[in-house]
Amino acid sequence: MLKVDPQRPEPDKIRLAASFIRKGGLVAFPTETVYGLGADAFNPKAVLQLFKAKKRPLDNPPIVHVDNSKSVARLAKEVSPSAQRLMEQFWPGPLTLILKRSELVPDVTVAGLDTVAVRMPRHNVALALIRESGCPVAAPSANLAGKPSPTSAEHVSADLDGRIDVVLDAGPTVVGIESTVLDMTVDPPEVLRPGGTTYEMLQNFLGKVKLNPIAVADKPLPLEKVKSPGLKHKHYAPDADVVVVEGRLLAVVAKVNELARFYKLKGSKVGVLGTDETKQEYTADTVKSLGSRDDLTSVARNLFRLFREFDDAGVDIIIAEAVPAEGLGLAVMNRLRKASGYKIVHADASRTE
Ligand code: TXA
Ligand code: MG
Repeated sequence: MLKVDPQRPEPDKIRLAASFIRKGGLVAFPTETVYGLGADAFNPKAVLQLFKAKKRPLDNPPIVHVDNSKSVARLAKEVSPSAQRLMEQFWPGPLTLILKRSELVPDVTVAGLDTVAVRMPRHNVALALIRESGCPVAAPSANLAGKPSPTSAEHVSADLDGRIDVVLDAGPTVVGIESTVLDMTVDPPEVLRPGGTTYEMLQNFLGKVKLNPIAVADKPLPLEKVKSPGLKHKHYAPDADVVVVEGRLLAVVAKVNELARFYKLKGSKVGVLGTDETKQEYTADTVKSLGSRDDLTSVARNLFRLFREFDDAGVDIIIAEAVPAEGLGLAVMNRLRKASGYKIVHADASRTE
């Protein structure tokens, strides 16, 4: 682990990390969303190692990170005017664009698809590393496949120590949830994964944007409907089981406590994931707060860290309170529901399951 200044990364540390990327090695680095595990996107052997280190299925391609939008020309066959405008507006930032791939990109980097995912992260360490490496950097989140994405260097080490060359540690990430994945090969563009750039922001800017059904699903969808390979794999899940309770807040609080009692009687160690407004209402072995319901930015920032803390506390089940599915809340609810394997309880009496 190499501590690095998040604003003004020390050039010698960046040079060292970049030397690993140039040699075909693997470097974990911070972005504004979550930590990524980077490899030279044009080096098929290095990218294959990336999949191996993460134990990631080979059919799920990583996002290719660039340090300026001109680099996209080597990755994509064409950049439409609206893709260009999105880059100007939202880059650097948590927006990944799906574009038709160029033939220069190795097959393994795009998992054999005819499209490529690209983004420019808003983090000086990431940007310096990519620049110094002299190549686009393929980087999935730096967790073992199936684990919650890492929002700190400690999370990366817990999953990947001994499997990668170096971790650049610039402290906890700011957004805490991954980038929004937007498919630009269809008209209107379609959100495949809600994330750090909100649907509302995209809608305001583009006028028309679709939301893929999986982004808002409250049950598993048939696989043929799944357009983004990553979306069909189980994801983001702590080791503990997760149940999400949705509905009006008062009913949710009552239902969470009822479920907590039920699992306690069954002999489980119970965790409750609440919010600042509700946490004092809950009785369980471990109660944690995502932050204020009025501040979805902090809710998003805390989610994956709290998943990992519940696992460290050894709880068997996490009963999680839903938050409004608007703004960043849409991405939070997407991750919560997926983590639960769509075990969703509706608190309002009429819809109790
Ligand atoms: O914020 C982020 O996006 C972080 C940081 C490190 O940049 N990265 C990240 O990467 O979350 P990863 O690999 O964990 O997730 C990439 C997502 C997956 O769901 C993958 O299936 C999808 O992007 N994806 C990649 N290439 C794609 C393509 N050509 N078409 C559709 N989806 C694609
Ligand atoms: Mg991931």
